[in-house]
Amino acid sequence: CCIVGFSILITVSLCLDLNCTVASELLKRPTNVRLTSHNMNLVLKWDPPEGTTSDMVYTTMYRSSATDYRIGCSNISSFECDFTALKISQYGNYTGRVQALLGEESSNWVESNYITLDTDTVIGSPTVSLSSNGPTLEVTIQDPVLSILTLRDVYNGVTYNITYWKKGQNEKARSIANMQQNRVVLNDLGPRTKYCVQVQINTDKNRNPSQPSNITCESTANAPWVAALVAFVIMAVAVALLVVVVVYWKSISQFLCPKDALPPHFEICMQMFHFI
Ligand SMILES: *[C@@H]1O[C@H](CO)[C@@H](O)[C@H](O)[C@H]1NC(C)=O
Ligand SMILES: *[C@@H]1O[C@H](CO)[C@@H](O)[C@H](O)[C@H]1NC(C)=O
Ligand SMILES: *[C@@H]1O[C@H](CO)[C@@H](O)[C@H](O)[C@H]1NC(C)=O
Ligand SMILES: *[C@@H]1O[C@H](CO)[C@@H](O)[C@H](O)[C@H]1NC(C)=O
Ligand SMILES: *[C@@H]1O[C@H](CO)[C@@H](O)[C@H](O)[C@H]1NC(C)=O
Repeated sequence: CCIVGFSILITVSLCLDLNCTVASELLKRPTNVRLTSHNMNLVLKWDPPEGTTSDMVYTTMYRSSATDYRIGCSNISSFECDFTALKISQYGNYTGRVQALLGEESSNWVESNYITLDTDTVIGSPTVSLSSNGPTLEVTIQDPVLSILTLRDVYNGVTYNITYWKKGQNEKARSIANMQQNRVVLNDLGPRTKYCVQVQINTDKNRNPSQPSNITCESTANAPWVAALVAFVIMAVAVALLVVVVVYWKSISQFLCPKDALPPHFEICMQMFHFI
């Protein structure tokens, strides 16, 4: 009887010391479990528990604050599960959980952080293209492509913050914030100068601006009147030359093909001139 009583005592004290739920956990849990969102996707990521073998698989679940847990990925061997295709909502407040499995053994579930898609997702960088028109640059901005809906479906207020500077003079950058159009003409620029542009998106609901666009650079040209003036001068010179040639045609042809001496090759010369 003493032995039985003693072993019961040990079990009870084990439960008190180690917390029975932990003591009954056969597998170690995944660590660093985090729910992430980039461009409105929803992906659960985790690190494998220590001493993981290649046979370890994971099962994940997700839920919004309005629903119960639903199955995400079952028995996968990778360390992430994409919930995006599972009819997620742009306004949903989501959380996920993951469990490690090895044969018949399983770990406890580990819950992730909460993500509310429209406020928490990391908005990717816009695509910026530049075209020069005289001494101005036209900036055209394309919104990043989202996993569900479009940027303007998700956010009512979308504005662009356009920063631009003369190449090599980053410290003198100027910004135009709160632009609503995705096509903007920068017209306070110098002619024939290289400028660089970077754009970020601000929205009404997301807590952060988008990732900044790539830096794009382009040279401005001359003002249109300069090009027109140059074209005019070239035309004028060409016309003047033509007039000179026509007026002095006789003298020129006589000079090139003198009448007095007509060796055989000059005949060809004459024929050519008459032909023209
Ligand atoms: C036992 O584990 C549960 C859940 O894992 C936890 O909420 C509780 O605080 C733990 N109790 C002790 C005494 O560690
Ligand atoms: C996952 O693996 C477990 C244990 O091997 C098995 O019982 C379960 O049916 C599997 N689930 C799916 C969806 O394949
Ligand atoms: C999401 O739901 C959790 C749990 O109900 C809550 O603690 C959290 O504040 C919610 N987040 C938002 C942004 O509503
Ligand atoms: C930024 O530049 C990198 C490398 O040139 C390219 O792979 C990427 O697609 C660009 N990003 C955008 C939004 O255009
Ligand atoms: C616009 O971008 C510039 C440069 O990144 C930054 O200094 C400025 O605070 C931004 N303005 C707004 C309204 O986001």
